[in-house]
Formats: sequence, C-alpha cells, structure tokens
Amino acid sequence: MSEQLQEYEGALDRGLEGVVTCTTSISTIEGTTLLYRGYTIEDLAANATFEEVIYLLWYGWLPTRRELDEFCTDLHHSMALPPESFGWFHGLPTRVHPMDFLHAVIAGLTLHDPDANLVNAAATLRKSTRLSARVGTIVTAYQRVRSGQWPLQPLPEKSIAWNFLYMLKGEEPDETTVRRFDTCLILHADHELNASAFSARVTSSTLSGLYSSVMAAIGTLKGPLHGGANEQVARMLLEIKSPDRLENWLDNTLRSGEKIMGFGHRVYKEGDPRAKILKRMSQEITRENGHPELYEMSVRLEELMQAKKGLIPNVDFYSASVYYSMGIAIDLFTPVFATSRIAGWCAHVLEQYQNNRIYRPRGKYVGPTGEAYVPIDER
Ligand code: COA
Repeated sequence: MSEQLQEYEGALDRGLEGVVTCTTSISTIEGTTLLYRGYTIEDLAANATFEEVIYLLWYGWLPTRRELDEFCTDLHHSMALPPESFGWFHGLPTRVHPMDFLHAVIAGLTLHDPDANLVNAAATLRKSTRLSARVGTIVTAYQRVRSGQWPLQPLPEKSIAWNFLYMLKGEEPDETTVRRFDTCLILHADHELNASAFSARVTSSTLSGLYSSVMAAIGTLKGPLHGGANEQVARMLLEIKSPDRLENWLDNTLRSGEKIMGFGHRVYKEGDPRAKILKRMSQEITRENGHPELYEMSVRLEELMQAKKGLIPNVDFYSASVYYSMGIAIDLFTPVFATSRIAGWCAHVLEQYQNNRIYRPRGKYVGPTGEAYVPIDER
C-alpha cells in the first residue's frame, strides 16, 4: 500500500457517511428540521410558492415582489420547449421509463442551447432557468404522447405547479390541488448533499456544464434507494392491497432481507420533517379522492416499522399516496421529484462553480499486487 494510502488507513467510510466534502449555504438538516437558506421547511411549505423557493435557493434571499415578478416572467416563458424538440417526442420510444425519457430529452436540449458548455455564472443561471422550467413540460408531454395525445403548451401567466397539472391532465386544475402540488415541489426542492446533488457537484467540479451535471443527477435520482423509492412505495401499497394483510406481508418481506421502500434515512433518525407535512396531506387527499385505505395502510406500516425496525418514514413514503390520489401515473412519481429537485441541483452547480475544486477521493485498494503479465496462449 502506498504511503499516502496508509495515511488514510482507518478513514475508510463506505457511502461517505459523516464525510464533509464542501461548504454550502443552500440547505441543511438542523435537528429535526430542514432549512433552505435559513428558513425552515415548515415555514416555506406553509407560506411560500415554489417559484419563491427556487429564487431563494439560487440567489440566497427571498425575492421582493418586483424581483419575483421579473423572475417568474423569465421562468414561466421558458416552460415551452423549443419547437424542434416536438419532433423528438414522436421519434423516441414511448414504452421506456419516464426518467430515461427525461434524460434523453435533456441531452437533446443540450444540442440546441447556445450556452450549453459555458460555465460562467450568468450562462449557468440562464440555463438553470430554462431547464428548471422545462422538466415538468417534458414529463407531462411524455405522458400525453404515450397516451396517444398531443402535448399541451404551458401558459406563462400560470405557475409551474399549475402548468404541470394542466399539461398532464388537459384541464385546468382546481386551486386546492395546485396548492398541494406546489407544496410537494417546495418539500422536494433541495436536501443538502443528497446523492443526486452530490452527483451534480461532482460532474460540475470537472467544469463540465450544467446540462451534464443535471443529467448525472437525474441518473442518480432514478435509483430506488434515492428518488425512485416513491414509485416503489406506491407499488408496494397496491401489492399489499388491504390493512389486514399488512403485518404478514411485512414480516415475510423483512425475513427475506428486502428493504421496505420509503423507510430509513442516512441523516434523520428522529423523523423526516417533510414526511410529517406529507402525512397530513395524505390523510386529507386520500379521503377526499376515495383512497382512504392507502393512508390507513401507510400509518399502520409506519407503526410496525417503528416497532420492528426502529425506522422512520422518509419523504418518499407519504408522497406516494399523495401523488396517487392526485391521479398521477405511478412511474411519473420520480419525474415529479425531478421537476422539483432540479431547483436544488442548479443551486448546487452554481455554488460549486463559485469555489471549485475537482472531487477526487481515493479508494482503498484490496486487490492483488505483483502480478506479471502472462501471454494469452499460456493462460
Ligand atoms: N427497510 C428495511 N431495513 C432497512 C431499511 C428499510 N427501508 N433501511 C435501512 N434498513 C436497515 C438495513 O438493512 C441495515 O441493516 P443491517 O445493519 O442489519 O444491515 C440498516 O438498516 C442500515 O441501513 P443502510 O442501508 O446501511 O442505511 P443507509 O444510511 O446506507 O441508507 C437509505 C439509507 C435511505 C438508503 C435506506 O434506509 C434505504 O435503502 N431505504 C429504502 C429506500 C428509500 O426509501 N430511499 C429514499 C431515501 S429518501
């Protein structure tokens, strides 16, 4: 082992738990709450809009009315996709996972963005605006195309949350659903050095542009141990079917060594503040929309997981029954997460560029040494 690696001996930290890799002033977990730029998630979820939160994450302060109006004009006019992209929707396969489709379309957008490979702050902000506005448009367009419908154009005088629901369903959404969906977007917008934000930072640390960083983050979010968990939670609840089957199902699943999606967290051990807000929303919306059994099963599962494993529900647990009750297709749950988290990824890339140093950790080598090459015919 090299001298330098010996120096690191004992510092091996699988999964980088407890490793601090950068300074950040975007968001942090403080005790049992989450702060975006110093504001608690409870305060923002109750009072702010998603657009204000995006501004807060990127600029560091809550916008004045004038700042917000200017920002929204720019952001909302960016929601429409460039006309050339509509051809792709009818050329790309429509039986793929929507996260893969999102990835492919963002790769396509890179080719048409004159700022694509610029890494200065102004260009990164311009791209952040375009991309953050467009993720929801791509996701909803995919849903319509795969259902044999023509994608709808966003209405720039309306919010991202309003437009997402409108473009998805083809009708104007009601105010309560828009407010709830907007709250979901706020809750998912950033979360310190989560795996996808870290991916975005690693990619941007090579001075690769925002698009590459966001694509790295999308790939990371997709996995079931990260953002992909919300989709799995819905499938799990539907598989269990009824509260009386739950304990049996849980015991069998835990015995088989499988993880229960939507439970556990690397940092929160006492409870995820986002899950608490989503739990209340789930109780209301599942009752109103005719799926009360989903909430009942979720609460029972929460009690049993606490008793049997000491594990808490995370953000992906109650969001599943919320999105399901909103009539959103299950495989769009993670793309909904991306529609929000794009705001955080962009904030992290902007911050990374301000004080960049390439991420380049070491691996503790445990493979063989001293091997000599054997010609192929002698092996
Ligand atoms: N169901 C069952 N057991 C779980 C579990 C879950 N959801 N989450 C953690 N555990 C168990 C692990 O099996 C492990 O047990 P062991 O020590 O006996 O091997 C222990 O708890 C520690 O888990 P680990 O995977 O090392 O924790 P982590 O900090 O690396 O991972 C998560 C955190 C979130 C990835 C993990 O809890 C998980 O996979 N949860 C399910 C997926 C999910 O909901 N992801 C969304 C996160 S917001």
